[in-house]
Amino acid sequence: MRIACLGGGPAGLYFAISMKLRDPAHEVDLFERNRADDTFGWGVVFSDQTVENLLANDPVSGATIRDEFAHWDDIEVHIHGETIRSSGHGFIGIGRKRLLRILQDRARDLGVNLHFEHEASARLEDWAGYDLVIAADGANSRIRTAYAEHFGVDIQVRRNKFFWFGTEKVFEAFTFAFEETEAGWIWAHAYRFDEGFSTFIVETSPETWAKLGLDRMDQGEAIALCERIFARYLDGRPLLSNAAHLPGPQAWLTFRRIVCATWHYRNLILLGDAAHTAHFSIGSGTKLALEDAIKLAEVLNRPGLGREEALAEYQAERNLEVLKLQNSARNSTEWFETLERYLHFEPIQFAYSLLTRSQRVSHENLRLRDRPWLEGVERWFQSKAVGTPVNDPAPPMFAPYRLRDMRLANRIVVSPMAMYSAQDGMPNDFHLVHYGTRAQGGAGLVYTEMTCVSAEGRISPGCTGMYAPEHVAAWKRIVDFVHANTDARICLQLGHSGPKGSTKVGWEGNDAPLEAGNWPVIAASEVPWSAANQMPRAMTRADMDAILAQFVAAVSMGEEAGFDMVELHAAHGYLLSSFISPLSNRRTDEYGGSLANRLRFPLEVFAAMRAAWPVEKPMSVRISATDWMGEAGVTPDEAVRIGEAFAEAGADLIDVSAGQTWAEARPVYGRMFQTPFADRIRNEARVATMAVGNIYEPDHANSILAAGRADLVALARPHLIDPMWTLRSAAAQGHRGVRVPPQYLNGMEQLARNLARDAEFKA
Ligand SMILES: Cc1cc2nc3c(=O)[nH]c(=O)nc-3n(C[C@H](O)[C@H](O)[C@H](O)COP(=O)(O)OP(=O)(O)OC[C@H]3O[C@@H](n4cnc5c(N)ncnc54)[C@H](O)[C@@H]3O)c2cc1C
Ligand SMILES: Cc1cc2nc3c(=O)[nH]c(=O)nc-3n(C[C@H](O)[C@H](O)[C@H](O)COP(=O)(O)O)c2cc1C
Repeated sequence: MRIACLGGGPAGLYFAISMKLRDPAHEVDLFERNRADDTFGWGVVFSDQTVENLLANDPVSGATIRDEFAHWDDIEVHIHGETIRSSGHGFIGIGRKRLLRILQDRARDLGVNLHFEHEASARLEDWAGYDLVIAADGANSRIRTAYAEHFGVDIQVRRNKFFWFGTEKVFEAFTFAFEETEAGWIWAHAYRFDEGFSTFIVETSPETWAKLGLDRMDQGEAIALCERIFARYLDGRPLLSNAAHLPGPQAWLTFRRIVCATWHYRNLILLGDAAHTAHFSIGSGTKLALEDAIKLAEVLNRPGLGREEALAEYQAERNLEVLKLQNSARNSTEWFETLERYLHFEPIQFAYSLLTRSQRVSHENLRLRDRPWLEGVERWFQSKAVGTPVNDPAPPMFAPYRLRDMRLANRIVVSPMAMYSAQDGMPNDFHLVHYGTRAQGGAGLVYTEMTCVSAEGRISPGCTGMYAPEHVAAWKRIVDFVHANTDARICLQLGHSGPKGSTKVGWEGNDAPLEAGNWPVIAASEVPWSAANQMPRAMTRADMDAILAQFVAAVSMGEEAGFDMVELHAAHGYLLSSFISPLSNRRTDEYGGSLANRLRFPLEVFAAMRAAWPVEKPMSVRISATDWMGEAGVTPDEAVRIGEAFAEAGADLIDVSAGQTWAEARPVYGRMFQTPFADRIRNEARVATMAVGNIYEPDHANSILAAGRADLVALARPHLIDPMWTLRSAAAQGHRGVRVPPQYLNGMEQLARNLARDAEFKA
């Protein structure tokens, strides 16, 4: 094949090498606009795994690269005058110039025709003599831009400013240095890439950048300022720029996240940064470029594979890898864009939050990397939780927690789940066994299902209620069992179904109206849940008074039944949620319009409940932190204000759910998918939060808690199948400080022994 490679960065060079290695008969011309030695940037970092991939593809250049890498294991985080150092991270760094030189030499040896100082044309007609044209011309690819409509290019410009400096100061650890100036925070990512040089990327928000005057300074002034700010890390070494030709402000870059729907058009193929970018803070751009090159060369040379099939396989496989990395990179980018949220953390937690920011590294990954450090974090977490120094490390999920006078033995919560098994609102033997078993399972706190404040406020005829004296006695039987037989506390979730009421039990059709015997429903406005559901009646002030009185009465009954805590359900499209979401609230009075107006009635209800509930007992509120409808619905920004408003009204905990407020919503699911909202509300509104939503591993819970993303972790579906989830997790983690019902001790001991033996065997 005759191949033209446009661009002589890592992608272009390594693709040329990989093609020649597979078939020396390929004729490869590579065109690079710069001279061989001119390049932007300083060093790049890889993981050990990337080097293994390079060695497998080309042992010759792989070995040279491996032998020249600067290797280090430690990460240092400097914040608030403290240094937090952890180890085992396994990075390697190399100068970009040196990497390119190694690849150029290898390409030349293999017979690639290298044409430097050759500006490649962005018109496909000019490459008519070639079978394939490889666009390896980087993030600003001209040829991709020329054919953008065929590639479905999506470019997102991120907000922070950064400058890629070099310095002769040799950093022994990957260093993150955070400095506070009068204008705000500014920080550096620094790492050694050879014996005498380090990369030193300075990053800050656009606001701080402008306040520092960097938007007006020439490069000399900017460098002098950065040298002053980071003087204590640089030991008098200057910061070096290799973008000297640019006016000062332009040498500061903003990251552009690039995604392409299609990676080829006719015989033009995108490779490396031309196809996709990953934020520098996870250091994976060069890795992706090199691995793209390997895969593309592999499929193009596979016997019997046609070009279209080959390219389809190239994109399908690489795209998956790229999407995973871009997801992690997005989390990491956002962490740096919102780091002010975490500046109130103690340095050790700040460092933990930084290390787990991309969500690729979890609590257990950190244990594998540096057990003593991780155990230090666990001791710190436990000590904070109990209020005195603790010597033995324990998983964060087993730290106690206090809300007013209620003490929880641990941070795991059985999330509210409707069981649709009551009659006339009465909990029965099913509920006794169901809640009793889950409380025996070791969770610190068990929520009841949404228990309704009136018969008409039920979702279905199977919902439990708290509106008749016999309900109090039935619930008291369950609460008494939990208190007598377990360490768990029990919280009563109270709600009113509003526009989603009068429907079938869950397994007969979620949100589907009853076949017969429907009752009229009410809501903030005349907006039905779906075309199949009833048109609700918009509430009058008299309705509001009646509903408020029902909630207050239910709270008093909850107290009589002995509950430890009460939650107001203001999420998921039910009555109070129908006021909060602008999609379902179309009112023009003081209960509609602005967020303050939409919150007015839910807050009134909450305040009245709070007044009726004993002051020493805590209350929470469940909210939907987004309607998953963009700006048209509740946004995560608004959710922070919603959390603040309920906290001011006396909520001790915000139970952060999302969605189920609008039938056409498009939620984005994934592991721990709602946790970012709990994190944001907790650390911006500074109120305790509970995370929920596809959290199913002890590792998830520990990571969320130790990183300060939430205070409690609720699991719903995992508890349906495994009421003993918490005890099982304790056994799996070798944690003994959990109360096991004495009747079940033998089982717990045997499980712990077997799991420990399995773990030893695997190791
Ligand atoms: C601040 C910063 C730090 C980074 N740190 C890391 C890191 O630690 N680890 C990591 O893996 N990645 C890192 N990256 C990303 C990394 O630099 C890129 O992902 C990687 O270089 C992509 O390789 P590429 O060959 O696709 O593109 P590039 O390296 O951009 O190469 C494209 C080449 O094409 C040439 N070219 C462009 N247009 C033309 C034309 N019309 N004619 C001829 N030649 C042309 C350019 O001169 C260039 O040499 C970082 C990036 C930045 C901005
Ligand atoms: C069967 C079932 C019933 C539920 N009922 C309620 C409920 O009554 N009140 C509530 O706030 N959430 C309810 N939810 C939502 C859960 O509390 C939880 O937020 C959701 O299932 C996500 O958590 P998970 O991924 O751990 O299941 C219910 C979920 C399920 C699966």
